[in-house]
Amino acid sequence: MATNIIDWTDSWQDKLDIKSKYASADAISARFSKEVAEGKLPFCSMPYMAELLYDLEGLEDYVKGFDHMLLLGIGGSVLGARALQKAFFSEQDEPCHKGPWFWIGDNVCAKTLESYLEKLPLEKTLVAVVSKSGGTIETISQYFLIRKKMQKKLGEKWNRNFLFVTDKKSGFLREQADELSIRTLEVPDNLGGRYSVLSAVGLLPAMFMGIDYRSLVEGASAVLSSLASSTLDAETLLNHPSYKIACWNATLMEKGYNELIFFSYIPQWACFGQWFAQLWAESLGKEGKGSQPIPAVGATDQHSVNQMFLDGPRNKGCLFLTCDSLPHGEKFLEDIPDKFSYIKGKSFGDLIHAEGLGTKMALSANDVPLVEFKMAEASEESAGRLMGVLMAATIFTGWMMGINPIDQPAVELGKRLAKARLGADGLQEEKNDLEAFLSTKREEQIF
Ligand code: PA5
Repeated sequence: MATNIIDWTDSWQDKLDIKSKYASADAISARFSKEVAEGKLPFCSMPYMAELLYDLEGLEDYVKGFDHMLLLGIGGSVLGARALQKAFFSEQDEPCHKGPWFWIGDNVCAKTLESYLEKLPLEKTLVAVVSKSGGTIETISQYFLIRKKMQKKLGEKWNRNFLFVTDKKSGFLREQADELSIRTLEVPDNLGGRYSVLSAVGLLPAMFMGIDYRSLVEGASAVLSSLASSTLDAETLLNHPSYKIACWNATLMEKGYNELIFFSYIPQWACFGQWFAQLWAESLGKEGKGSQPIPAVGATDQHSVNQMFLDGPRNKGCLFLTCDSLPHGEKFLEDIPDKFSYIKGKSFGDLIHAEGLGTKMALSANDVPLVEFKMAEASEESAGRLMGVLMAATIFTGWMMGINPIDQPAVELGKRLAKARLGADGLQEEKNDLEAFLSTKREEQIF
């Protein structure tokens, strides 16, 4: 198997003195072992995996009997699946694709939902409703509308076209599943959305799309098993890429680098940037600390946000993703005008490689500390490794910052205010705040 490499040459690790963070290895390894043993870090130990793989195998004929899967969810419940779709099921975006089709409803957008309701052949569509809490309004409200339509169209057997991925005991979706005999897969305890891509949350859609989800799991296990081991010690941690990435990031943040670019030069992996952005932001944006993740994709974003990366505020670090074994595509032959003669005999692969190298060197020359992930192959196994390392690095970074990387308390306020606005019971304080806010004279301007 080809080897993935993390290249630290341009990371400024000495200049930043990231080694000063290594002193935390004893405490962090002890805490990690303890939390794994207590079942608090299932993204790493994956105690649910054998049963899940068995269940997925049992469901395969049923799931693949549908032409369409419509995934309803939001945030961590869908971002992993979308990244996998774009990376490993790009056929769907290619001309003349003949199915299967995978769709995602992850917003409150009447136009999109209406088009799903009107245009999807509902009898051939499996609706996968994914919500750990089982009560997220953006997800559940879509479920209500689609359920109504399905019931009308399919009659008594409508529930055959639904599958819920949710908590095993609690929440509205669990109650619905029990009451209406809807198939379910579990989101394990203590597995928050943004750490759940390697559970049924990501693997069910992957299975539907024909993605090699077992290799994904194998890749993640290969990088996470030493951390999940009961013998984890400071030395193992110090040699683990996720710990070093955490030391690097925690140091960058302390030194005022409050933005972190995720620059993918594997074009079809662009959505891993969205997945990572949510993982990083929701885990680490706390108590006035953190670094804002910025997903970018080469070469496209060289003509967009790259100017700011290169010559805007010097407050950015960069995770840079490359793969030398991408398909090279056709070569440019003799019909190329002289002006472009430098690409004669070269391929698309040469072009993206050269552009990646140019961008990486330019970022370095402009004082952006950069760590390069050189993926040996743009495969499921490599993606599993990458996601495993990034999830663990996020936890370690949070612990070094002294915050809890598992919760996301700040996002609750907006949700409570929206509920109050819609007239939900209780929430008197929010209702008072709303009244005060809405009665304030607005300073408005016509444009
Ligand atoms: O990462 C997270 O925990 C969140 O982004 C959740 O995934 C998101 O809020 C959706 O929650 P739920 O799965 O409970 O519907």
